[in-house]
Amino acid sequence: MSPGHLHVITGPMFAGKTAALIAEIRRLTELGASPDIITHAIDHRGRIGDISTHDGATHDARVVATADDIIRTVTSDVVAIDEAQFFGQPLVPAVAHLLDTGRRVIVAGLCVTFDGRPFDPIPELMAVADRVDKLMARCDVCGAPAPYHRPTQTGLGDALDITPDQVGGSDTYQALCRHHVGI
Ligand code: TMP
Ligand code: MG
Repeated sequence: MSPGHLHVITGPMFAGKTAALIAEIRRLTELGASPDIITHAIDHRGRIGDISTHDGATHDARVVATADDIIRTVTSDVVAIDEAQFFGQPLVPAVAHLLDTGRRVIVAGLCVTFDGRPFDPIPELMAVADRVDKLMARCDVCGAPAPYHRPTQTGLGDALDITPDQVGGSDTYQALCRHHVGI
């Protein structure tokens, strides 16, 4: 059995995480894999059953509600998971199980919340990954590389207590550099 491999693609919103995930899925598919492609049920921005980028590229995906559902439904030795932040802490043991069973796992998700805090479980997965691609967005104000993002509306509650109200795109969030986010 192969030893498993974990690749984390992360950064703020609008950094190209899903585009990078789709590129990796295509590369591995060309090499003969038939990856399980998974996204979380809370994110309805694409057509149901898609992962989608902010500029409209899409790829079919299986929509699941929990990290346990990933384990229950996995069929391939390559597993790609988008919007991984929505699975929360249970994703850590689920990914460990996929790796223990020799799988190649690619996880794309936010490493930072809209109020600038580490967004579990991605930071924990970054720590144990074989490869981490931390991407940057462009600051909405000055165009500098942007590691942060902010909602353009108030009242979204606690960023670590995820609710459907917090799901959104460029209509409700903007990317910001360290200077303009004011941290
Ligand atoms: P994206 O990384 O594909 O752009 O999507 C991130 C999703 O996460 C989007 O639906 C907004 C949501 N979100 C949160 O739930 N909490 C947050 O703290 C942030 C920044 C985004
Ligand atoms: Mg995305």
